[in-house]
Amino acid sequence: MYTQSFNVPDGAGQQPAVKPVLRTEPPELMAKFDACIDADGRIEPQDWMPEAYRKTLVRQISQHAHSEIVGMLPEGNWISRAPSLKRKAILIAKVQDEGGHGLYLYSAAETLGTSRDQMLDALHTGKAKYSSIFNYPTLNWADVGVIGWLVDGAAIMNQIPLCRCSYGPYARAMVRVCKEESFHQRQGYEALLVMMQGTQAQKDMVQDAVNRYWWKCLAMFGPPDADSPNSVQGMRWGIKRISSDDLRQKFVDATVPQAKVLGVTLPDPDLKWNEERGHHDYGQIDWDEFWATVNGNGPMNKERLATRVKAYNDGAWVREAALAHAHKQQQRTLKEAA
Ligand SMILES: [Fe+2]
Ligand SMILES: [Fe+2]
Repeated sequence: MYTQSFNVPDGAGQQPAVKPVLRTEPPELMAKFDACIDADGRIEPQDWMPEAYRKTLVRQISQHAHSEIVGMLPEGNWISRAPSLKRKAILIAKVQDEGGHGLYLYSAAETLGTSRDQMLDALHTGKAKYSSIFNYPTLNWADVGVIGWLVDGAAIMNQIPLCRCSYGPYARAMVRVCKEESFHQRQGYEALLVMMQGTQAQKDMVQDAVNRYWWKCLAMFGPPDADSPNSVQGMRWGIKRISSDDLRQKFVDATVPQAKVLGVTLPDPDLKWNEERGHHDYGQIDWDEFWATVNGNGPMNKERLATRVKAYNDGAWVREAALAHAHKQQQRTLKEAA
C-alpha cells in the first residue's frame, strides 16, 4: 500500500521543491525518449533515459517498497490478537502480501541501477521516506478493518493508474499488487460490516477507528496540486497519470456510499454532495500534522524504524546462511565441471 509519491523528497527536506535539471541530456537520445513517452510507450531498463527520470523513479519506487514493508508492522502487531482463526489466517495472508509487494518493488528499483543494500540502508538510517500513515498506532481490532478499508482503499486509488506508468517494470509489478490490494480492501470492509452487526461497544470501536484514520487517509494522497510542482513533471513523464487532488476526490466520492452502507459517519462536517461539481466537497486537511509526521515526528516514527531495524538485524543469520549455501552449491558445480 502506498501513496504520496513525488511530493516527499528523501532526507531532511521540509517541503517539496522544484527539481532542477541536473545536466544537459544528449538531444538525439532525449528526442527518442520524448517520442516514446508521447506515444504512450514503455521505457525498459536497457533503454536510455534522462537522469532526472531515473532518479525520480528510484526515489518513488524505493519509497513505495519501504511503505510496503513498514506497512506490515501496524497490522502485524494484531496477528497474535486476531479475534478468530479465520481473521488470523486472513491477516497473515495480507501482511505476507505486503512483504511480497516490497520484494517486487525493490527488484523493480534495482533495474534502475540502485542496490537493495543501498535502499535498505537509506530506510534504516532514517534518510528514506515511507508513507506517513504507518506512523500512527493501531489501538484496537477495528483499526485493522479500517486500515484495510480506507488505507488499502486509498492505496488502490493511487496504484491503479501506476499500472499504466511509463516505466515497464514498475507498471507490470503494479498489476499484481493492485489485485492483492483489492483483496486487502475487501477483507477490511467485510470485517467492519461484521463488527457493525455486533454490540454497541463494537460499533463504537469502528466509529472511533474511522474518526482517527479518515483525515490521515485523505492526506495520504499528498499535498494539494498547487503545492506540488514536481507533479507536473511526473505527469509529463507518464509516471503520474492522475493528479493528487483528483485521486483524493475520487477516493472521497467512492468512500461516502460505502460509509453509508457500513453505518458510520465520516468525521467531516463540511462533507456534502455538490450538485454543480458532481462531486463531494470536503473540509480542510491538517497539512502541518502531515509534514510533522513525514519529517519524523509522528506518534510511531521511532518505534516503526526501530522494529524494522531489529527485524533486519535478527534476520542476518538467514541471509548469511543462504549466501553460504549458494556459495557451496557454486563450488560444487565448478568442481563437477572441472
Ligand atoms: Fe501492498
Ligand atoms: Fe495492502
